Amino acid sequence: MKSHNAELIVLEGVDGAGKGVQSRMLLAAMKDAGLDVILTREPGGSPGAEEIRRLIVEGETNRWDDMTELLLIYAARRSHVMDTIKPALKNGTWVISDRFADSSRAFQGVAGNLGIDVVDRIHQETLGDFNPGLTIILDLDPEISLSRADARGGVEDRFEQKGIEYQASVRQGFRQLAQMTPESRKLIDASGSMDDVSQKILDCVNAHYNLSLRLPS
Ligand code: TMP
Repeated sequence: MKSHNAELIVLEGVDGAGKGVQSRMLLAAMKDAGLDVILTREPGGSPGAEEIRRLIVEGETNRWDDMTELLLIYAARRSHVMDTIKPALKNGTWVISDRFADSSRAFQGVAGNLGIDVVDRIHQETLGDFNPGLTIILDLDPEISLSRADARGGVEDRFEQKGIEYQASVRQGFRQLAQMTPESRKLIDASGSMDDVSQKILDCVNAHYNLSLRLPS
């Protein structure tokens, strides 16, 4: 089923929207179809970027201002792209990433008030025109998603601690991005059952790349 060159597919959404489980589902569906594919994540995804991740997701909510946070995230992203994503794509391997640059646009750009254009400028300086082939945004009310994220617990809660208004603004940011380029950013209602959301994701990927992925058994 190799009708398309390998590309980067990204899953995005507010914290607790179900990206983790759905990106593992997509990985399994693509493997079942015989495709070479890896799953990675941000912040992180390369040894250097995983070290930077801790600075970003752990600790006091206001340990960084929004610009410092954005620069740390882009240091991690450049390492992720140079060391993991580009080598894989060059090798013909598809890459699924749990978050990528649209998270910076929605979190730091919109919710953090830096503006999407500032994120775009830093993106251009650090990564040029490198962008995902398809971004799937899981859209969910932060009242629901935050309670899921809370239930998970752990130390990686710096952004959850920024509160419901911040997360609501992140959601608006993602919706705005989906409206800007609906051909490469697909907004999916993530309030349904897990299988329901999985099927919608597969429908998007199949339509975009002319594939016939099925729900993994
Ligand atoms: P995760 O919980 O999906 O692994 O993401 C960790 C946190 O990092 C999440 O709360 C969102 C935040 N984040 C940003 O604020 N900007 C970014 O560009 C990325 C990739 C993540």
